[in-house]
Amino acid sequence: MLKVRDLRDSFISYFRDSGHQIVPSSSLVPKDDPTLLFTTAGMVQFKPMFAGTVDLAYTRAASVQKCFRTSDLENVGKTKRHCTFFEMLGNFSFGDYFKKEAIEFAWEYSTAIIKFPRERIWISIYEDDDEAFDLWRGRIGIPAEKIVRLGKADNFWGPAGDSGACGLCSELYLDRGPEFGCGSPDCKPGCDCERFLEYWKLVFNQYYQDTAGALSPLPRTGIDTGMGLERLSTLVQNVDSIYETDELRQVAEFICRERGVKYEGVNAQCVNILVEHGRALTFAISDGAYPSNEGRGYVLRRIIRRALRYARMIGVHEPFLHKIVDPLVSIM
Ligand code: SER
Repeated sequence: MLKVRDLRDSFISYFRDSGHQIVPSSSLVPKDDPTLLFTTAGMVQFKPMFAGTVDLAYTRAASVQKCFRTSDLENVGKTKRHCTFFEMLGNFSFGDYFKKEAIEFAWEYSTAIIKFPRERIWISIYEDDDEAFDLWRGRIGIPAEKIVRLGKADNFWGPAGDSGACGLCSELYLDRGPEFGCGSPDCKPGCDCERFLEYWKLVFNQYYQDTAGALSPLPRTGIDTGMGLERLSTLVQNVDSIYETDELRQVAEFICRERGVKYEGVNAQCVNILVEHGRALTFAISDGAYPSNEGRGYVLRRIIRRALRYARMIGVHEPFLHKIVDPLVSIM
């Protein structure tokens, strides 16, 4: 079975072999970007390269980026797939390749390297992006009924922060089977249930959005992709949730052992929340964020509070979260 560590390596090797500069993850605390509290995506460290405001030392790159987002905070632990901290596997082009190659790379990596069955992959595109439709349908051979057109909320991405590159996007989903589904006859990508798991988003950067929200064409088009390592691992390891993938499962097992709780029902949810929030806090604090009353620090404080609230439900009434740090460090 491919472990999380193997998946990081396989992504990097694949894109290195296809001419990408491998760039280390940047800090969760973005440098020189006061508009962002945290690094929310792989593209954040490349914003000036997309905007065309710096000289380029390379025109294609790939990374495994530490990311932090609180948009799904209340879902964390309750769903099988939401995180505040996650790792994003991404490939990027700065005026180099565009839609066709981005789609071909994603398809080849998904089917030839990861070996997802082609017939289980579904695609979403922006509602009137006929070019993307033709590429998926004509070049890759996806049946038309598996290419779903979605609106701006799903298939227009960016910018990160209050200005920057943005564009239409296309997503890859794996059909996990009806047993994961809501049973609705309309269930397909875009549905909120767990059947069609979005695992990779390809953003076709084409516009610059200014702080007033106005779009202008970028000096050169670009590609920004992001694949959630936790979701990819869930699919590859064929487990029910991100908490059952090899790295996170070991943290969950540690908590269950320490607290003498069984990983089931509401207890499992509480443990998931401690796993996820403990990991997020460890990475954020080690990158220089610190709990406080405002801004970035207040975000961490909210996460600590949420973790403590759920910790109480499994009988934790004394400082505990810090105990996760050492096992987490050795696991990751
Ligand atoms: N920037 C896009 C995202 O965050 C793709 O990486 O989803």
